[in-house]
Amino acid sequence: MKLNIYPTKEAVAEQFSEQLHTWMATNKSMHIALSGGSTPKIVFDFLARHYKTKIDWNSVFLYWGDERCVPPTDEESNYKMTVGHLLSKVPIPETNIFRIKGERNPEEEAEAYSKLLAANLPSVADIPQFDLVILGMGDDGHTASIFPHEIALWNSEKNCEVAVHPTSGQKRVSITGKLINNAKRVSFLVTGKGKAEKLEAIVKKTGNYLEYPASLVNPTSKNLDWFLDEAAASGIE
Ligand code: 6PG
Repeated sequence: MKLNIYPTKEAVAEQFSEQLHTWMATNKSMHIALSGGSTPKIVFDFLARHYKTKIDWNSVFLYWGDERCVPPTDEESNYKMTVGHLLSKVPIPETNIFRIKGERNPEEEAEAYSKLLAANLPSVADIPQFDLVILGMGDDGHTASIFPHEIALWNSEKNCEVAVHPTSGQKRVSITGKLINNAKRVSFLVTGKGKAEKLEAIVKKTGNYLEYPASLVNPTSKNLDWFLDEAAASGIE
């Protein structure tokens, strides 16, 4: 794993965007799974502002690693957040965007999205392969929508599962561990002091780190990059 630590979350957004631009320059096309959360939001703002014309958006294909089971017009929708901060601002063709339909029956959508990923992505080791999976990490150590109380979902045989948020009870559709660890690259975007304790445990392999789904991210490609601000990394510096 590679730990990249920057002074602020704005610097994380800037450096990750630059890295993404570099990866894109060496790939004909990229199939990317996006994440929800506050750090991707500022990355999207940065990309929209500085990479609108520098990136060939025709060769970018966007998916989601997880989605809240709400309509795409709902404030909680990861898709809506991405439209507001990125998709409405860059020239990406509508046909390159594959959202998880949060308004549908969650079990049916998990099944349908599993099939969509299998149809759209190349299969490596019989598992669909993303070029890049972008992940966040919650204060409780969750990633995508695999939460500590449902950590068994990580090892699901399925591409996508229905998860339940531990406090709100909100249903989510999430990709599972086998897809995440089969990606060509995985990038964690993690900022803020609230993440410091779990991040320290995961990096140092101490305490209850194995109970945190984020600790199970270990792509077979070995291309795992953490983009952190100093607040999140305060326990490991
Ligand atoms: C979601 C997520 C989730 C998120 C983390 C971190 O839809 O809620 O994809 O896994 O990435 O909770 O979120 P922050 O960046 O807001 O801390």
